[in-house]
Amino acid sequence: MQQSAWGEAETMALVEVEEPAPVFGEVLVRVMTAGVNPVDVFTRRGQAYNRVLDLPFINGWDVAGTVVRIGYGTTRFRPGDRVFGMPWFPRAAGCYAEYVTAPARHFARMPESLSFTEAAALPLAGLTAWQMLTEVAAVAPGQRVLVVGAAGGVGHLAVQIAKARGTHVTGTASAAKHAFVRGLGADDVIDHTTTEVSAVARDMDVVIQMFGGEAGLRALECLRPGGVLVSGQAAWTPGLYERAGELGVRAAAYLVDPDGAGLDALAGLVAEGRLKVHVDGVFPLAEAAEAHDLLGSGRTRGKVVLAVGETD
Ligand SMILES: NC(=O)c1ccc[n+]([C@@H]2O[C@H](COP(=O)([O-])OP(=O)(O)OC[C@H]3O[C@@H](n4cnc5c(N)ncnc54)[C@H](OP(=O)(O)O)[C@@H]3O)[C@@H](O)[C@H]2O)c1
Repeated sequence: MQQSAWGEAETMALVEVEEPAPVFGEVLVRVMTAGVNPVDVFTRRGQAYNRVLDLPFINGWDVAGTVVRIGYGTTRFRPGDRVFGMPWFPRAAGCYAEYVTAPARHFARMPESLSFTEAAALPLAGLTAWQMLTEVAAVAPGQRVLVVGAAGGVGHLAVQIAKARGTHVTGTASAAKHAFVRGLGADDVIDHTTTEVSAVARDMDVVIQMFGGEAGLRALECLRPGGVLVSGQAAWTPGLYERAGELGVRAAAYLVDPDGAGLDALAGLVAEGRLKVHVDGVFPLAEAAEAHDLLGSGRTRGKVVLAVGETD
């Protein structure tokens, strides 16, 4: 599914391209499913914050599939292994396609219990939640964590990972999604559409903030002195560091990073039954535009996935 111009959904079209070949240390993966993320939509429109992408462009970073070939020196995988990953981000990975090649360490073995559909929903959102909580915030048992956008792709995984780490979790979501967020294990849920979150969520040790602007700034007020806000949209939150300094809290700009060890950690949580990925919609690759529209509608709980090959 390629685009030769940035723009709306009609810029995407199915075309035949050459199969990529793995070089040293890489694997060639036959794609079964590709996850859809908000960054795919921003990128399709040419709104991505990075300028490392060229036209013609094949969208998509989340992938699950089967290794078909390995490059010289690759020891982590063998042909036939079922793998998932978020290769190359933020450079082009081209996962809306039948084949993808990338360094072996950009992938991990799929947990046995996951379908290809679930596995493609996990990498980008799961790595974001995992890295924000465990690496940037170094969240510890007993801490109080606020997850903004708790019913979304990142948020629904962040709630579960934070609970698995023994924390008290408050999530924000519109009212129709509260039962879903509580079902993930959240202790408290705030309707951010009717309530000023910073007025009711106080003394947090960690804020996982997925949005920028004025609300992204006010979320700093939810922290206790010395607490940390990890922002997925710091570049769109003017004054973030100055305000954090005034309040005596810490703000960190975060961008997700391809990471086989992080994927292994997510797979471990799945295998232990402590992390479930919720897929709200599955579309054939040819209907990528519809998948983008659904994700952009704000109605989804969890993730949206494209079926490329024959899925289970
Ligand atoms: N920096 C990074 O590395 C990184 C990584 C992943 C994602 N992100 C960004 O994080 C955001 C969320 O990603 P996602 O995959 O979770 O998206 P998603 O699946 O679309 O979920 C987002 C959910 O959050 C809620 N929401 C929307 N706007 C909001 C706002 N201004 N304040 C609070 N809640 C809001 C909506 O649900 P309600 O009905 O509850 O409002 C929406 O469904 C996107 O902007 C994405 O680009 C950044």
